[in-house]
Amino acid sequence: MVDNSLQPSTLVHILIRLMHTEKSAPSKQPTQQFVLGIETSCDETGIAIYSDKGLIADTLYSQVELHAEYGGVVPELASRDHVRKILPLVRECLNEAKIQASDLTGIAYTKGPGLVGALLAGSSVARSLAYAWGIPSIGVHHMEGHLLAPMLEEDAPTFPFIALLVSGGHTQLIQVDAIGCYTLLGESLDDAAGEAFDKTAKLLGLDYPGGPALARCAEKGDPQRFTFPRPMTNRPGLDFSFSGLKTFALTTSQANTLNSQTRADISRAFEDAVVDTLLIKCRRALEQTGLSRLVIAGGVSANKQLRASLAELAKKQAVEVFCPRPSFCTDNGAMIAYAGYQRLMAGESDPLCVQAKPRWPLTNLNASLP
Ligand code: KG4
Ligand code: ZN
Repeated sequence: MVDNSLQPSTLVHILIRLMHTEKSAPSKQPTQQFVLGIETSCDETGIAIYSDKGLIADTLYSQVELHAEYGGVVPELASRDHVRKILPLVRECLNEAKIQASDLTGIAYTKGPGLVGALLAGSSVARSLAYAWGIPSIGVHHMEGHLLAPMLEEDAPTFPFIALLVSGGHTQLIQVDAIGCYTLLGESLDDAAGEAFDKTAKLLGLDYPGGPALARCAEKGDPQRFTFPRPMTNRPGLDFSFSGLKTFALTTSQANTLNSQTRADISRAFEDAVVDTLLIKCRRALEQTGLSRLVIAGGVSANKQLRASLAELAKKQAVEVFCPRPSFCTDNGAMIAYAGYQRLMAGESDPLCVQAKPRWPLTNLNASLP
């Protein structure tokens, strides 16, 4: 059921109230930087605070239950739920960090890519709060957030490195020379890896969200029963194609009785094929560029099999692999707070007009060298 009590004007009223009740930031130079991060590109409301001392607050509200009955994200419901959750989570974060709103020195929000309504919910709140509190705000590229997420860990990579970005909307291999210096080496020509996981899970009748459900199902699968192709690995280049694997899963499921063991065996064959393909292309990207550090990021990098295979790669070859903890692989506010902190420290900020970029190539970003 759609909650009609949440009209767009509700947000405006909340903001006007906030602007009148919250104290503006003092004009003196802050001694410490505290950047609030707001992530609302899809179905997770992620709010966090990154300071000079690192990450000091991190909260997440997942809309999974809301969308589960529809078997996928319903964009309108997602936007409404973000509107409902952002401000309570901002307060929760301030409490967790033990700071006041007036201590904040900047706000970072996801400007794109993503669902336009969801992005607008986050960017309107971020910019309105920044205006009310008299601090700068910056729109962050969602995939830049993902690729910098390993920087939140103690064992952070140094530049340059190769990043494998694997999420619901992207599968890309990027050479990262510095913040904002991104060269696209290859990408999926059709479905993103996460999208292929989700679609295959759906056709197998697995739960939503599909990626983690398929990975769980694959754990009980027999790796010998079916063998799926490793698309585009027998020709040169670093591009991917995953839509054929989904079709392979469909025809295999139609040719066999689809009981729980067959589901698990198909899931296993599918997962093995995706993981192997990603691994082959990562190795190729490292060879081609002569680099020895590999970062994996985005929702699919939470996949246990992929992480285990990359750990093997690191053991066998002179390669360092950096995988953020699973909660920093999927969408979260910490990665946006971190990327925004870096860009604000480099003197960047965005004008006040509310911005959202549902489509936005990562390679179009400015280099941000402090
Ligand atoms: O980065 P993310 O949270 O959101 C986007 O930016 O898209 O990635 C979500 C994607 C979904 O397709 C989801 O099914 C997939 O990541 N995913 C997984 C796993 N956890 C999330 N895929 C495979 N195995 C997982 N454990
Ligand atoms: Zn994401």
